[in-house]
Amino acid sequence: MLVSKDAPERNRQPLVVGTAAELAAAIEERLVAAASSGSGATLGLVPTMGALHSGHESLVATAREHNDVLVVSIFVNELQFNDTADFERYPRTLDADVEILARAGADIVFAPPVHEIYPGGRPLVKLDSGELGSKFEGASRPGHFDGMLAVVAKLLHLAMAPASCPVPVKYRAYFGQKDAQQLVLINRLVKDLNYPVDVCSVPIVRTADGLALSSRNQFLTPEQAEAALVIYRTMDMIKGRAENHEPLFLDDVVELFDREPLVELDYFELVDPDTLVELAFNCRDTPFTGEGLLLVAAQVGNVRLIDNMPLGY
Ligand code: PAF
Repeated sequence: MLVSKDAPERNRQPLVVGTAAELAAAIEERLVAAASSGSGATLGLVPTMGALHSGHESLVATAREHNDVLVVSIFVNELQFNDTADFERYPRTLDADVEILARAGADIVFAPPVHEIYPGGRPLVKLDSGELGSKFEGASRPGHFDGMLAVVAKLLHLAMAPASCPVPVKYRAYFGQKDAQQLVLINRLVKDLNYPVDVCSVPIVRTADGLALSSRNQFLTPEQAEAALVIYRTMDMIKGRAENHEPLFLDDVVELFDREPLVELDYFELVDPDTLVELAFNCRDTPFTGEGLLLVAAQVGNVRLIDNMPLGY
């Protein structure tokens, strides 16, 4: 069957596979079908841990729009959880996820068992996220980014067009901007290890009142979800000051968080969007110029929330 590049089929059950061999065969078959005579095909990968919400749907929709063949992986990667309880209670909702992906037009869902990803148990050879991986989220979740890089490195390999594929392929992988530090590290991984993939980032999806969507939001009580809006409100306030080229007076933020006893602020920093180096010189009490990214993390009950907002674009 020829897959049209203009109108990918929606509401068709995606093929669900669990092994690397099945994935490679399915990808090759679809790429060959998608390539019209003489031209190549495009292949998109959206790595996820499942428990899909509208934020993921927007990632999948973007990837669907730009690629002939779309693979979505669902794998809850224990290596990136530094807290066993958090890993165990992470929602596993494969059937519902596959339904969402059918509506979103995914071609292949790769939902491997643990031994398919880590055949020898925990990997002996490890990726080290370095200094960049040990600040911000890395400071409170030691090992998180090393574990994230381990699985992303694997998934990028596994979802690549197999060497036997006879058509030229353009390969793209999609990640959400909500995990800004993750995105910077994945860009470095791809650059440092010369992966033949374009990393594409997709904007944060928020509720109408500003809470960034996350699979963990379902663990917030309505009161906690309401209190958590302080994150968006404070970022928006600072963005307003940046747009007016006023000093940002970031310390005001602490006061606003102090008024929300349900929310415990971990960090609220302005950083360079590409390197995540702090831009302290450009934000405290001089008019803001240039570009920056606000990075925020806060604890609300048992739930850690992260968010970010670009300034100066
Ligand atoms: O962002 C996520 O959901 C995960 O960190 C990822 C990229 C799927 C790796 O497990």
